[in-house]
Amino acid sequence: MSDLLDCRQGLPALPPALRERLGDADEVLVLTGAGVSAESGIATFRAALSGLWARFDPAQLATAEAFREDPARVWSWYEWRRAQVLRAEPNPAHRALADWAERPGRLHLVTQNVDDLHERAGSRRVIHLHGSLHAPRCFDCARPLDTPPLPDAEEQLVAPPRCPACGGLARPGVVWFGESLPEDALATAWALAERCDLCLVVGTSGLVQPAASLPEVARQQGATIVRIDPQPAADFSGDWQLLGVAGVILPALLEQL
Ligand code: OAD
Repeated sequence: MSDLLDCRQGLPALPPALRERLGDADEVLVLTGAGVSAESGIATFRAALSGLWARFDPAQLATAEAFREDPARVWSWYEWRRAQVLRAEPNPAHRALADWAERPGRLHLVTQNVDDLHERAGSRRVIHLHGSLHAPRCFDCARPLDTPPLPDAEEQLVAPPRCPACGGLARPGVVWFGESLPEDALATAWALAERCDLCLVVGTSGLVQPAASLPEVARQQGATIVRIDPQPAADFSGDWQLLGVAGVILPALLEQL
């Protein structure tokens, strides 16, 4: 059973045990999900009304079959999301994680997000488990391709560009349902989970595997697991849940360390 700390009105003084674990950690693994970008205005996936998967059907947009069936529909949807991300700015949660990496010890950032807001906040060597909106590749030969200019009208349906090498269609560089995660990213994240002494889980529902297993891997090796999210998770097996938004909690945590 984890301890709950209500941070919805701001971060209270930390219980000494938690403060000690946070302050003493040498090797910190942070796993982020869509919630860390929510305060930048980027929709999460599973919010009941505003979530992307409440408004759009993943079977029509986030599978290789959907792309084969209607490449323009799938491509245009990801380009629409890329345009939103380009307009967005990193929020205090992204910035606090970038600042945290400057503290003594090591902080490794693993994200399920396909935006680049961690990088734009100053984080380096971010491990992207689910790929990136900014790294299209050829659907046929997998060659990395340049991102094309965005269409003027945002909702416009556009055909994906062609690969200059083989003529195949460009596809978004994200992981679709039914696809494997990038091998290097997953192996690195797993190794980090096996050796970290603190794992912060920020803004993820923890419903998508294998990313959702990383905190459990860390816990089994004896790491302290701290979850930061406005919604409590009944099945969370870590040590602490800090209930509130990441853009408030992370900067305040950093101040208290
Ligand atoms: P979800 O939409 O499933 O979960 C977002 C989480 O963020 C929820 O637990 C929210 O309560 C929480 N949240 C919302 N606002 C927050 C805030 N301001 N601060 C902190 N937390 C907040 O998104 P993910 O868990 O990231 O996969 O979803 C995992 C994967 O499912 C995504 O990477 C995507 C999707 O299908 C791919 O695209 C491959």
